[in-house]
This record gives sequence, structure tokens and C-alpha cells, in this order.
Amino acid sequence: MTFQRHRRLRQNAAMRALVRETTLSVNDFIYPIFVAEGEHVKNEVPSMPGVYQLSLDNFGQELDEVVALGIKAIILFGLPHEKDAEGTGAFCDHGIIQEATRFAKQRYPELLVVADTCLCEYTDHGHCGVVEGEEIVNDASLDLLVKTAVSQAQAGADIIAPSNMMDGFVVAIRQGLDAAGFAHIPIMSYAVKYASAYYGPFRDAADGAPQFGDRKTYQMDPANRLEAFREAASDIDEGADFLIVKPGLAYLDIVRDVKNTTNLPVVAYNVSGEYAMVKAAALNGWIDEKAVVLETLLGFKRAGSDLIITYHAKDAAKWLEEK
Ligand code: PBG
Ligand code: ZN
Repeated sequence: MTFQRHRRLRQNAAMRALVRETTLSVNDFIYPIFVAEGEHVKNEVPSMPGVYQLSLDNFGQELDEVVALGIKAIILFGLPHEKDAEGTGAFCDHGIIQEATRFAKQRYPELLVVADTCLCEYTDHGHCGVVEGEEIVNDASLDLLVKTAVSQAQAGADIIAPSNMMDGFVVAIRQGLDAAGFAHIPIMSYAVKYASAYYGPFRDAADGAPQFGDRKTYQMDPANRLEAFREAASDIDEGADFLIVKPGLAYLDIVRDVKNTTNLPVVAYNVSGEYAMVKAAALNGWIDEKAVVLETLLGFKRAGSDLIITYHAKDAAKWLEEK
């Protein structure tokens, strides 16, 4: 056995920079924004300090900040005034996402708008599909999701990101977009999405908690790894352009697995509960927020994420600029 001197390559900052394997950049981030119908809305989400529900009159300022920081893409979630059984607000031409998308594209044509395509924020029952009795019906949901995606594209969305976890949603949306003249619009599929307790704060932020039952009949069992391969494979087959793995931190093994088995860009979603935990500890003075956030985001990259959807994006962009 020879004595290995690993510390040779760690002796100073320049040497460490020379051998650094992973880097983090503002180009890696997609920033989620919650847009609300109404006026003068700027509600901080209690479990997500620094994250707000914003009406359109306050949305412009948020966009200014995002663009000034060099962030290239946002993902939008909508809070409609009214909800119904079908989630009509999701595919209404003057729905909140459609209006917010038009607003953002007009103000900043080069900023990429990713539209989350789901029904749960718009349905009175809070599920991501059509409900019959206590059942979430797959195929009947697809029509509504296609309508939603097409109306988002019509409003100017650059990327469609379906998060509903119905079977066949990618191919249905792909065909719907193509037929409506949007063959050039990519689909960023929530391909591997687990039924997770880490979505708790988001459900407050987006007011999208299921009113009965849970999402375990459509979102994945956290115990399963092989199923992630099946989900990723079917979405690739159906025409996805990006694959999202969600949540992130408790699933970095899955991020790596998906990265190793596809040539598509892999996107990790650093979800609301992950953000809330970091914020809570930081506000208590228990951790160094900047160091922990940058280390965490770097971890996503090292695990194989090409992109990270993260509520830390604005802070991280600032900190990276300072460096
Ligand atoms: C809607 C949706 C959810 C998230 C993104 N899109 C919630 C859910 O599926 O219950 C979670 C995002 C987060 O926790 O940050 N389908
Ligand atoms: Zn949903």
C-alpha cells in the first residue's frame, strides 16, 4: 500500500478550483412563482419565508428582480379566485396562469416561462385529475390537461411542465400541442414524482391540498426505485424533452439513476418542504444559510441534475454573484 497524499490537490483555493468537478451557475436555476388573481396581493407564505403569492400588479417587480439576477427561467403556479370540479380555471384563456404568462412575456420576451400543467390548484376537490366518487379517473383527466397545456402555449409559455402524474399525459399533451401548432414547444415532464410529505408548504402556497384522501394512487411510492426507471422510460417514449425528479434531497439516488439512463436534460425539484427546513434552521441561527444552500444546490448538480427548480434561486444567484 502506498501512502496517498490526497491533500496535495486541496492545498489552496487555486488548486481546489483547478480540480473542481462540479460547478453551480445561475443558468442552472428555474425559479417558482405563485401568481394570484386579484389586486394588491403580496402574501408571504408562512412556511416559506421569502416566497410570496403575488397578484399581477406585484408580479412585474418580482420579474425585474429575477431578470436582474440573471435567472433565465421561471415556473408559474396559479391561484384562481374560483375553483370547480373540472378545474376550468386551468384552461381558461383569461386564467391566472395565462394572464401571468402574457404579462411576463411582454415585459421580458427573453425570460423563459415554464407553465406547470396541473388541475389541483383549480379543482374544488384539490386532486390533479377528474374525480368520480373517490376515484381519480385517468383518461378523462387527459382531455383537460391537454386543454390546459394548449391554452398555456397560446398565452406564450415557452415550456409545458405537466405535474399531474396521470398515465399517458406526455403523449396526450404532445399530440395536443402539435395539433394546435405548438410542435416547437418542449415538454418538461414531472416524470418521476413521488407522493411526498415534502410538498406540505407548497400546498399552502398554492392552496392545492386534496380535500379527501391523498395522491398515492397517482404519485409514486417513496420506497420504489425501479418504478422510477419505468416512469422515466415511458415519458421518454412519449416524447418528453426534459425529465423532472421530485422531490430532490431525499431522492438524489433517483436523480443519479435517471441521469445515468437517459440523454435528456434532468431537472431536480428542490421542493417546498426542503426549502422550509433550511429557512427554519437559518432563521433560528442554527445553520449558515448561504453556505448550506450553495452546498445543497451543488449536491443536486453532483448527483446529476442539469437544472434545479428551487425557491432558493434568487438568493443563490445573489450569492454566486458575490463570490
Ligand atoms: C401540483 C404540484 C405540486 C408541486 C408542484 N406541482 C404539489 C403536489 O403534487 O401535491 C410541489 C412543489 C413543492 O412542494 O415545492 N401537482
Ligand atoms: Zn396537481
